[in-house]
Amino acid sequence: MRDPWGLNERLFAWYYPKLVALSENAGQREVRRELVSHASGRTLEVGAGSGLNVPHYPAAVTELVLSEPSSHMRKRLRAALADDPPPVTDWRVEPAGAEQLPFADQSFDTAVLTFVLCSVSDPARSIAELCRVLRPGGRLLFCEHVHAGEGTLLGRVQDLVELPHRYLAAGCHPNRRTERLLDASGLEVTELEHGRMPRSIPTVRPTIAGLARRAQEQAA
Ligand SMILES: C[S@@+](CC[C@H](N)C(=O)[O-])C[C@H]1O[C@@H](n2cnc3c(N)ncnc32)[C@H](O)[C@@H]1O
Repeated sequence: MRDPWGLNERLFAWYYPKLVALSENAGQREVRRELVSHASGRTLEVGAGSGLNVPHYPAAVTELVLSEPSSHMRKRLRAALADDPPPVTDWRVEPAGAEQLPFADQSFDTAVLTFVLCSVSDPARSIAELCRVLRPGGRLLFCEHVHAGEGTLLGRVQDLVELPHRYLAAGCHPNRRTERLLDASGLEVTELEHGRMPRSIPTVRPTIAGLARRAQEQAA
């Protein structure tokens, strides 16, 4: 959800790095480091935001493509990369959104998504696009904040505040049933851990993190 002037997107690009720093300093940075340590080969990060995963990419990554559709967020990303370039020789920034990735079928070994499926307009299509660009056997590394569960008080609150939340956080739904979406996708979830984002507002606290693999035999 973007207002006609893009004010909420601009506001989000300004406050997100400041707000998320509280969680990063309280342990979320370690979650990112562990997750991203599984990346290798040609790697695509979608919705790279202000670049919080970038310092953690391991030497096994041969090329890094950082896609970020928001021009305001891309400005933050480029500033962060100018100060602290990725530890990968071959890298670039692309303005693509997850729903329509301008990359060839089966062209990446790894895809990375952290706190992005909450914000895309069509999460099922976004996962299908990631599946398309991953090579057979390629892996998606994900960490997302999610719905707290049917029948829970927090889950009800997340559903109730969805609309204002989407406006204030530039399209972020606090209540996505992301585990269900991954299970229904063409990817096989091989590792999944439920967690809590430390020092975050309650509506974005429940998380899932893990790995999903594109099947070897899947048709392109
Ligand atoms: C909550 S931020 C997370 C940023 C970063 N991935 C992180 O872990 O800090 C959500 C990001 O998703 C981006 N985004 C919004 N819509 C998107 C879309 N359709 N495709 C890809 N990224 C999108 C936003 O611009 C923003 O950078």
